[in-house]
Amino acid sequence: MSLFDQGPTMSLEEFRLLRELVNETCGIRFESDAMFAMERRLRERLAALGLTSFRAYYQRLRYHPEAQAELENAVDVLTTNETYFFREAYQLEALEKSILPEMKERNERSKRLTVWSAGCSTGEEVYTIAMILLGTGAFAGWDLRVFGSDISRRVIQHARRGVYGESSFRAMQPRYSRYFSDAPGGKRIANEVKSICHFGQLNLLDHERSALIGTADVIFCRNVLIYFDDRSRERVVRTFHDRLVPGGYLLLGHSESLLHRATQFEIVHMDRDIVYRRPMTRTLFDEVDR
Ligand SMILES: C[S@@+](CC[C@H](N)C(=O)[O-])C[C@H]1O[C@@H](n2cnc3c(N)ncnc32)[C@H](O)[C@@H]1O
Repeated sequence: MSLFDQGPTMSLEEFRLLRELVNETCGIRFESDAMFAMERRLRERLAALGLTSFRAYYQRLRYHPEAQAELENAVDVLTTNETYFFREAYQLEALEKSILPEMKERNERSKRLTVWSAGCSTGEEVYTIAMILLGTGAFAGWDLRVFGSDISRRVIQHARRGVYGESSFRAMQPRYSRYFSDAPGGKRIANEVKSICHFGQLNLLDHERSALIGTADVIFCRNVLIYFDDRSRERVVRTFHDRLVPGGYLLLGHSESLLHRATQFEIVHMDRDIVYRRPMTRTLFDEVDR
């Protein structure tokens, strides 16, 4: 080992085995040029476990009695958790100005509204949606629920704590500052907002467990599927279709589009955004075998 060695190196074969396993587990695809990034990020796990080769680490992930827990750790260091309040504001505008007024009319009898933020990371997106809902003042007395889910337990714990440092506020809209108070380590989200938010660990590839969400009126899944391969993305989009009420909306991040894919969704053009809607009536796709 030279002075500059950082730890074990990854062979091409080890890279292929590991990326296949990660892809099977969570849908994320690593292109060939990501080998060094994967090597760098996983070294931390090898060091934690006292392993000296990526082959040994792969064996551990496949065959060890605690393989599942370590797989979660691996996915955790390999995923990007970047997020912040009021990210991609034009989409939030579509929610506030077009979708919520429609939902208010449609659900006037049940007075119930459910939004799911899938792949919510540390929770800023969930609390953003909740602040917008409450901020409209239009849903007093309603049963409002904003669900946040992520594959990583670590980020879900952070979300439940609800305390955020400065970088989470880089796109913050000042009129919502009233929902925060000073706390050790940053600012704490108000209980009024927190009380309508619910967090849980969930792998989006797990179609069956996703049913625990029940049905949602709106689903946000932003900056998650861009990292997935096509097959996994299609599986997840099918899950979203099943979880949405007829007429419910799916909002993907700006770089994620279903435009060039055959999907069960209708494309809806809003002022500054394109969103997807589960059709009110059954389509040919609903008949396709799973
Ligand atoms: C970049 S963050 C996006 C956060 C937020 N939606 C936003 O746009 O700001 C992507 C999140 O997707 C999560 N993720 C990746 N694969 C997942 C999977 N198979 N199931 C659930 N969450 C997943 C990651 O753990 C990460 O927290």
